[in-house]
Amino acid sequence: MSRISLSETERAKLRKLAEVAAAHAYAPYSNFRVGAALLLENGSVVTGCNVENCSYRLTSCAEQGAIARAVAESGPGIRLRAVAVANLNRAASMPCGACRQTLSEFGSDDTLILYPGATGTHEETTLGALLPHAFRLEFLKP
Ligand code: THU
Repeated sequence: MSRISLSETERAKLRKLAEVAAAHAYAPYSNFRVGAALLLENGSVVTGCNVENCSYRLTSCAEQGAIARAVAESGPGIRLRAVAVANLNRAASMPCGACRQTLSEFGSDDTLILYPGATGTHEETTLGALLPHAFRLEFLKP
């Protein structure tokens, strides 16, 4: 359970914005069109979609695109309240492992993650549940 309070109307709005963003996906290789909508602590919402590349490993996920855009728009101090992920393929989709780490850079254990379940259900969890023991670069600098 996330301690972040977000009304059902706000949740629905964020999900819808993720879906709208998914329509912009560039996914000619997988045909899996993903959108992400970030709700920042400053109240703004930033979206992204996946952008694939014929050199497959250069593909950028929707969440990564949204994070890059959010930092570009609002600066390095952004913090994530909630993240919604959607796809246009009527499939379940949660942030992949790499995206969990990317989100954890700007989120907390309580960051709310909204994602579609396999049968079109609205599911939610937290970033802490998706990525326990996230990598942190904490060491004593010489
Ligand atoms: N994808 C995302 O955009 N986000 C994820 O968290 C998982 C995967 C994209 C990458 C690729 O374009 C397509 O989905 C299929 O893997």
